[in-house]
Amino acid sequence: MTLKVLVTGGAGYIGSHACIELLMEGHEVIVIDNLHNSHFESINRVEKLTNKSVHFFDLDLRDYKKVQKVFSNFKIDAVMHFAGLKSVSESITEPTEYYSNNLNSTFNLCKAMSEYHVKKMVFSSSSTVYGIPSFLPVTEDAILQPYNPYGQTKLMIEQFLRDVTKANKDWAIIMLRYFNPIGAHVSGQIGEDPQDIPNNLLPYISQVAVKKLKKLSIYGDDYPTSDGTCIRDYIHVVDLVRGHVAALDYILEKNKLHNKAIAINLGTGRGYSVLEVLKAFENACGFKLDFEIVGKRPGDIPEIFSDPTLAKSLLGWKAKYDINKMCLDTWNWQKQNPNGFS
Ligand code: NAD
Ligand code: WQD
Repeated sequence: MTLKVLVTGGAGYIGSHACIELLMEGHEVIVIDNLHNSHFESINRVEKLTNKSVHFFDLDLRDYKKVQKVFSNFKIDAVMHFAGLKSVSESITEPTEYYSNNLNSTFNLCKAMSEYHVKKMVFSSSSTVYGIPSFLPVTEDAILQPYNPYGQTKLMIEQFLRDVTKANKDWAIIMLRYFNPIGAHVSGQIGEDPQDIPNNLLPYISQVAVKKLKKLSIYGDDYPTSDGTCIRDYIHVVDLVRGHVAALDYILEKNKLHNKAIAINLGTGRGYSVLEVLKAFENACGFKLDFEIVGKRPGDIPEIFSDPTLAKSLLGWKAKYDINKMCLDTWNWQKQNPNGFS
């Protein structure tokens, strides 16, 4: 079945990979993105890679009249909602912007969906909703206690979406809680392109590798982990977006979810320490990278990784790519595009 899928935030890192996957599956893709944290060039490249076109709308989801127009021009079957602000540190200094953007965008989107009878959505949530996990691996029923404004917006949106599906007949929403997405499309033509100095580990390491940054600062080496550095569950972005297609299939084609919003972890189930990731990246690029151990970053949790069992049992999805492939593809993107899309 060919679907018309609205991808909000489709010019961004994960959204652009989702566009490729959807187009390759034969679906029609409509993107809304205000290009606040992305470049139109990513859409150009998606079109080149797939030899298919994307209907692109440069607009802010908070502008209801414009969002309405998109819904009235296309008979949308389902929405993948990626649009949002995502920096933990920025959310602490700019909470108003984060609550306003992430919540109002989602309210408007649901209002338009309701008006135009679009009832299926896959939403980008985050493992950040778990905060410091009380057990590992983390399952979806763990306590939710985000410790920063960004995480709070994800938790509030999850709650809002649960209420929306309860109140509206035939709605079905899957809220995917991502662990740490890294990697890039195998072509090296699209990938993560942070606007400033990267906050996240892989973009930082890869910019050290192309000599844009001098050396990696590792935030602490005396955590209670095997080598003292923090452990995370890194997941290849292509695996991640395949999880979205599986979620869409579950709610639309298999029609298996009724009047419910459910949360599902997307991770590999395996954790790697910062030093292990650095080593895997050095193997991928073929040379050593300069680093130093510095003080802990406030708010970092020592260890978190997912239990991905629910994704396997409900969606039939499982991550395929290992940390070596994640680093190889990140390196392939970064070395071909040392300055990102600009
Ligand atoms: P990204 O910043 O690359 O993409 C988000 C896109 O949304 C950007 O292109 C931005 O311009 C757009 N956008 C933001 N606000 C908008 C608005 N009001 N109207 C229209 N467009 C708007 O981020 P990403 O890494 O691709 O993340 C996608 C989603 O996944 C986000 O919701 C993020 O919170 C979530 N997420 C990301 C990660 C991660 O580590 N990358 C982890 C967990 C969850
Ligand atoms: C990973 C590890 C750092 C940079 C964040 C958000 C989370 C999700 C993914 C959106 C940590 C260490 C990092 C550096 C380092 N995003 N590190 N030097 O913090 O697990 O998660 O991004 O939802 O919500 O919180 O990811 O990539 O920033 O850090 O040593 O320069 O790398 O201490 O242990 P994190 P990260």
